[in-house]
Amino acid sequence: MTALLQLRDLRVEFPVRDAVDGGSVLLRAVDGVDLDIGKADCVGLVGESGCGKSTLANVLMGLVEPVAGQVLFDGADVTKHRDPGERRRIQMVFQDPASSLNPRRRVRSVLAELIQHHDLVPAAGLESALRGLIDMVGLPYRVLDARPRELSGGQRQRVAIARALAVQPEVLVADEAVSALDVSAQAKVINLLADLRRELGLTLVFISHDLGVVRALCDRVVVMYLGRIVEDAPAEELFEAPQHPYTTALLNAVPDLAPRRRVEGPALEGEPVSALSQIGGCRFRSRCPRAIAECAEQDPPYVVSGPHRTACLRVAEAAHR
Ligand SMILES: Nc1ncnc2c1ncn2[C@@H]1O[C@H](COP(=O)(O)OP(=O)(O)O)[C@@H](O)[C@H]1O
Ligand SMILES: [Mg+2]
Repeated sequence: MTALLQLRDLRVEFPVRDAVDGGSVLLRAVDGVDLDIGKADCVGLVGESGCGKSTLANVLMGLVEPVAGQVLFDGADVTKHRDPGERRRIQMVFQDPASSLNPRRRVRSVLAELIQHHDLVPAAGLESALRGLIDMVGLPYRVLDARPRELSGGQRQRVAIARALAVQPEVLVADEAVSALDVSAQAKVINLLADLRRELGLTLVFISHDLGVVRALCDRVVVMYLGRIVEDAPAEELFEAPQHPYTTALLNAVPDLAPRRRVEGPALEGEPVSALSQIGGCRFRSRCPRAIAECAEQDPPYVVSGPHRTACLRVAEAAHR
């Protein structure tokens, strides 16, 4: 069965000013990403700030056009163009609902406008659709008459989720959607997403720099480093037996998550080098405790074992021993 979303060798570049000579250079924010996401999958996308997670999300949404590669949605090529129907089917929730929700508009009017715009329910059913939505995200009906600025951070994020669901999408992309919330509000929103996924059969792409929240929700984890996917595996496997030195370092950095059989390798040191300075070869090599000369020579090909793939030459070595 073909995947609902297929990303093929995607590349996204942004012109940026070169710090040295002031000229314009191209920064590869996403560089050679291949990813299939199946219907009703819940995929976590993790990696340090600047590795390209939001850029990838924006490509999924059709907000950023890649310079190379393809995006297929339900078999249709939506790389350069998507019609309103296709747009509706993928919705996004952002980190900061305060900036994505107009603070002065009542929740009712925001949701009603979307439902009416897409002609999703007959006029007589509008009120019950609104109530259904607000109920679905675990908020009391009176929130319909509130303005976002009168709500707590957790409530606002629920409203943002209700807004995304108002147009009956199949895919929900959550970009750092719980990162601004305190731990208890985070846990509640994560539970809500898990419930919604089950009830609605939603496909979830859950982006976070925080591996802990990804672990709580996702069945599959995709790790990015400087625009590339370095490891992609079922969540349990990734957390118990990470293969890429970068994944190991990320896990070692969080005491609660470090695999029980602690994998050798230091915690992550240094800042990621800029995507500008290192094209070709493994992007992680300058910080990698296991790097060898060959790592500079080529992009490491994926070593694939069932649903687990890892872009690291040293994994290949271990596998052949
Ligand atoms: N519109 C833009 N113009 C120039 N550079 C950008 C733009 N958006 C993102 N970038 C750069 O692309 C890289 C990836 O950014 P982003 O996708 O936001 O990463 P993440 O979400 O993982 O933190 C970063 O180096 C960032 O500075
Ligand atoms: Mg981001």
